[in-house]
Amino acid sequence: MRENVRFLLGDELVEIASCDPTRTVLDWLRLDRRRTGTKEGCAEGDCGACTIVVGRLDGGRLRYEAINACIRFLPTLDGCHVLTVEHLRGSDGALHPVQQAMVDCHGSQCGFCTPGFVMSLLALWLNERSLSVQRIEDALAGNLCRCTGYQPIIAAAQRMNAAGREQNRFVAAMPTITARLKALADEETIAIGNGERHFYAPATVEALAELVSAQPQATLVAGATDVGLWVTKGMRRLDSVISLGRIDALREISDEGDHLRLGAMANQIAVRAALAGISPQLDEMMRRFGGEQVRNAGTIGGNIANGSPIGDLPPALIALGATLVLRKGNERRELPLEAFFLDYRKQDRRPGEFVEAVLVPKLQAGALYHISKISKRFDEDISAVCGAFHLRLDETGRVSDARLAYGGMAGIPKRAKAAEAALLGRSWDNAAAAAACAALAEDFTPLTDMRASAAYRLKVAGNLLRRFLIETTAPRTATRVAGLLAEAGHG
Ligand SMILES: Cc1cc2nc3c(=O)[nH]c(=O)nc-3n(C[C@H](O)[C@H](O)[C@H](O)COP(=O)(O)OP(=O)(O)OC[C@H]3O[C@@H](n4cnc5c(N)ncnc54)[C@H](O)[C@@H]3O)c2cc1C
Ligand code: FES
Ligand code: FES
Repeated sequence: MRENVRFLLGDELVEIASCDPTRTVLDWLRLDRRRTGTKEGCAEGDCGACTIVVGRLDGGRLRYEAINACIRFLPTLDGCHVLTVEHLRGSDGALHPVQQAMVDCHGSQCGFCTPGFVMSLLALWLNERSLSVQRIEDALAGNLCRCTGYQPIIAAAQRMNAAGREQNRFVAAMPTITARLKALADEETIAIGNGERHFYAPATVEALAELVSAQPQATLVAGATDVGLWVTKGMRRLDSVISLGRIDALREISDEGDHLRLGAMANQIAVRAALAGISPQLDEMMRRFGGEQVRNAGTIGGNIANGSPIGDLPPALIALGATLVLRKGNERRELPLEAFFLDYRKQDRRPGEFVEAVLVPKLQAGALYHISKISKRFDEDISAVCGAFHLRLDETGRVSDARLAYGGMAGIPKRAKAAEAALLGRSWDNAAAAAACAALAEDFTPLTDMRASAAYRLKVAGNLLRRFLIETTAPRTATRVAGLLAEAGHG
């Protein structure tokens, strides 16, 4: 057992022996360290004003990621290199190339969002050389600016790749930082707290399994992009927290031939890259999953275990036929993903169990797959409805297998069994799609909430199916599209 948390804040080694387990990094930076360059806008991961850059060892290599300090718990920084906006200016007062580019391109007005943008740009500058406008927009989607407008900031991102990168002190320091982080790494389980409340961070899956069995009441924390909000917005008090963040083995993704095995701690960036190999549709959907800061922190295990009816990965993976691997101690059980979701926020996770991995089948030759996410905003918004569809056709073109899964249509991510039945044995055409759309009313009685009305949800769920038909059948003749629109009531 190790009874402290250790990380690097710039060059400084920080050791913390006592800490509220859910103290946020943002509060610690601003209130304890008076590093007030990092701002608080929303305290829920949405605005990016609190963005900092955190380096961690990934397979022995130093990898920097932009994250939201407002929803990250301080003790989860163990073993990391933390950079805040104050670190950027050189001792001679010279601005970092990223800051200089923001100045040159007039990328700031009131300045409140600026440190967050600068830190998101720093992460890009550290990791990537060639930046398309779309890549820049994706990387900045988690940063909101109310006054400058985004064009000058995008221009700054295009300009910041200045010469002399290799001589820059952050790049030059990488070998030293890597060596220092390696020296901090160990396999001891961390156990700290503030007397009443406790934080644990095992370094191996075995130690995690033992700890979760012994403390089934403890809250598991992966990326904290959901749990962080329970604390900052829900004002919940978590007495015992077990962090999964130090367990590299849980981040592994492997190709097992006919399926992928994704460790529960694979973040959404890694999950996107893996799922893109199954379908470009999944790549596009994951591009719109949160903002870059959320994708860096949030994990596949957290998205599933959270049990939200509007999480995006559950419908995507249920449609593919994914299986969940749950572990308690040394025992494992496998469950079809859809069977994990029992009722609103009620999952089939037994005391002492945790999600270890997700097994995702690849698409078979000729299979049709499509996923659509409907949200009020294109970027960084939670779905109102998400529909994922997977069909297999026999040699005569008739549907031999159908998996249609929706988020946002019920208290859980759910298959549309009646709509699936309406498709089986039929040619995949307008009539079949119309029958499936009609059957959706048997499958779902959606809610009206701030994201969408019940009527809109039912309508859009059908329209997504129609879109699936249009996207997967060729040629896309005007007649076909007109027919579909007429059936949808837009003719
Ligand atoms: C600004 C913002 C935008 C977002 N956008 C999206 C979006 O577009 N789409 C979307 O689907 N979600 C979105 N989310 C929600 C969130 O990012 C995801 O659900 C994310 O995948 C959660 O993963 P995490 O690792 O952060 O989970 P955590 O917050 O750490 O945990 C979530 C839950 O899972 C449990 N848990 C975590 N790991 C395990 C495990 N291995 N075994 C058992 N239980 C576990 C925790 O105890 C907790 O109950 C957004 C969140 C924010 C703040
Ligand atoms: S303060 Fe808005 S994302 Fe953290
Ligand atoms: S410069 Fe004012 S919010 Fe961005």
